[in-house]
Amino acid sequence: MLALLYSTDNFGTMYDFIPKEDPEVFAAIAGEEQRQAEGLELIPSENYVSGAVKEAMASSLTNKYSEGYPGKRYYGGQEFTDQIERLAIERAKQLFNAGFANVQPLGGANANIAAYFALLEPGDTVLGMDLSHGGHLTHGHPVTYLAKLFRFVRYGMKDIETGEIDYDALAETARREKPKAVLAGFSAYPRQLDWQKIADIAHEVGAVAMADVAHIAGLIAGGAQRNPFDYGFDLMTTTTHKTLRGPRGGLILVRGDEDLAKKVDKAVFPGLQGGPHMHQIAAKAIAFGEALRPSFKTYAQQVVDNARAMADVFKEGGVRLIAGGTDNHLILADVFGSLGVTGAEAERRLDEVGITLNKNMIADDPRKPMDPSGIRFGTPALTSRGFKKEECAQVASLMFQVLKTPAAIGEARGAVRTLALAHPIPESYE
Ligand SMILES: Cc1ncc(COP(=O)(O)O)c(C=O)c1O
Repeated sequence: MLALLYSTDNFGTMYDFIPKEDPEVFAAIAGEEQRQAEGLELIPSENYVSGAVKEAMASSLTNKYSEGYPGKRYYGGQEFTDQIERLAIERAKQLFNAGFANVQPLGGANANIAAYFALLEPGDTVLGMDLSHGGHLTHGHPVTYLAKLFRFVRYGMKDIETGEIDYDALAETARREKPKAVLAGFSAYPRQLDWQKIADIAHEVGAVAMADVAHIAGLIAGGAQRNPFDYGFDLMTTTTHKTLRGPRGGLILVRGDEDLAKKVDKAVFPGLQGGPHMHQIAAKAIAFGEALRPSFKTYAQQVVDNARAMADVFKEGGVRLIAGGTDNHLILADVFGSLGVTGAEAERRLDEVGITLNKNMIADDPRKPMDPSGIRFGTPALTSRGFKKEECAQVASLMFQVLKTPAAIGEARGAVRTLALAHPIPESYE
């Protein structure tokens, strides 16, 4: 229905062909464009790419096969694809202060799988963050094939109220389990990790220190969070979307060990993937270029300031926040424990007013994943739209009202739409 409200005029030159050639697909795209324009996106892993990134994704590079690496391909006609991949590699290295970069992983999961293949033999042990304390599925959740191949042992927070990691327990576990890799990274943890302590523990037991910075890569690139490489980490994986604001994709970085970098390249291709998606790699190069601009630093700091402003509103309302607040772009709130609203009900109610976020397990959650105690939300997308602290606090107040009383839904819906339309989705970032 939404799509019917939209005319092709709304999309400028981006959609010359789909409306005429495939109206069915266009109707769904139009609906999604309208949903994004009129709603507020609070899923902390989402963002709005620039028009330049979108153009690269839609470019003729999608036609090209480029198996291999620049200068060493299995197909001809690589003059321009080589230029593009080299640009992406150089910019990625500069952005993260890395010695080596592989820009071919199709997504964050692929980047992690390839990194494991580069570092481990089947049966080897990896120390990873407890999934209920913020770790990601690809850090060894039993439902993944990775958990069948490798042995994942967990560490977590010592104190859920402050978010402090139990570094003593981590060191003891490392000495006992002798892992080949110690993995630090998360998709639902709002504090900064002590990279130095983790790297020291890994190196003491002869393990590789690996960080999965998918969620905070943009904050690291923008200088708003510490870079694990500055504390001795050996390898980093990340997505290129989320806070980094590039196309959906993956990236593997190696600090300085050339042998490890060679193993990573082999693990990505031919170990795991086939031909790289060159349109995606061009879009990555553009996004990395955007993140190298001084304005990206301002953006990254604003993401953190905005998240703190939202956290304060929830805290003032008496809502328990996991780790007591946030140092990054995301917030985890125990809405069931604090307001008696389950995570699923909170997600549904907020969806109704045009605020999109996700239900989330909280640490040691007594409830089930499909209807957990918590919600997870964050500020990367709102900040890209120009929201500052005051407006983020206003959004948090609207959320709080809707969670406290369903009667607030009607009024909140109008307020959300007004806020969204006052902040159009940007086409470019200075
Ligand atoms: C920490 C972390 N690693 C890896 C991934 C996987 O990324 P992708 O969805 O691109 O495969 C995610 C995605 O949410 C993540 O949060």
